[in-house]
Amino acid sequence: MNILILNGPNLNMLGKREPEVYGSKSYEDLENYLKSFEQTYGITVDIKQSNLEGILIDLLQYADDRFDGVILNAGAFTHYSYALFDAIKSISIPVVEVHLSDLTKREDFRKISVIRDACVGSVMGLGFQSYEEGLKLLLKGSEQL
Ligand code: DQA
Repeated sequence: MNILILNGPNLNMLGKREPEVYGSKSYEDLENYLKSFEQTYGITVDIKQSNLEGILIDLLQYADDRFDGVILNAGAFTHYSYALFDAIKSISIPVVEVHLSDLTKREDFRKISVIRDACVGSVMGLGFQSYEEGLKLLLKGSEQL
């Protein structure tokens, strides 16, 4: 199984960025954690980060037919990018939405995810572990095929 993990805007600032919300670990620490899924789950993992909406859309389109699923932390695009919603809808592989923080306990604008209905599942509030729970959803889905 071949999984693409896509991180959106400002996730590259982890560690420096609002540590009281996102923790003190760096983006490199996150990448190392995500890479460890290869050993633990016997899968291959590709990790990409971009601050640009169009690049995330290009990567989602590229992933179709090349990967078995996507774990997407769309950052703030989560709350307003109908273009990402359309991109997720336009591909045939499953996409799971993940977030480090618990959006239900933050500002009102974060309580809305416009991409959620295009995704097969959503995990939030578990820090780095949100990605692992997201992966488990994809693995469970693939068993049912
Ligand atoms: C985030 C939550 C978003 O609201 C925010 O804009 C982010 C990170 C999270 O992982 O908790 O950039 O997606």
